[in-house]
Amino acid sequence: MLNTSSELVKWSSTFSVGVKIIDDQHKELLALTNDLFNHCIGDESSERAYFKKVIDKTVDYVKVHFATEEKIMIATEFKGYRNHKMEHDAFVLHVIEQIKTFESGKHFTLLAFTRYLKEWVLTHIAVSDKQYFEHFKQIAARKADGRLSIAKAGTKDF
Ligand SMILES: [Fe+2]
Ligand SMILES: [Fe+2]
Repeated sequence: MLNTSSELVKWSSTFSVGVKIIDDQHKELLALTNDLFNHCIGDESSERAYFKKVIDKTVDYVKVHFATEEKIMIATEFKGYRNHKMEHDAFVLHVIEQIKTFESGKHFTLLAFTRYLKEWVLTHIAVSDKQYFEHFKQIAARKADGRLSIAKAGTKDF
């Protein structure tokens, strides 16, 4: 039995990009990552069964999240959009490659996959997602409840 408690990620305000819908999605991504860590028990057949059960849902959630960010970046004419989207696309492709490896029946370690997911998500939030936040801050007004209101993106508050 592996002990992965030290691998778990706890949400902290330093991860916040200041946009509620995106922060909520990042929290959910970290929760999905923690669920994966909690199923790293060192038994390959159990790990495979769990991965098979949740991976489609996890990838779908990642795609929804990326689409949300990309929509807001386009609406606010963020200059870094193309590079940011390329990072998203490359990540999805890499995960799909790993799923194919898994499906081919090759040796599979849930811990290695989950560590990769965690590192990518945390680094991407800290570096790339923070970049669009800097852009949003310049064009948005902060509402009383703390949300950003971006007039350029229409009437929606993010
Ligand atoms: Fe993100
Ligand atoms: Fe992103």
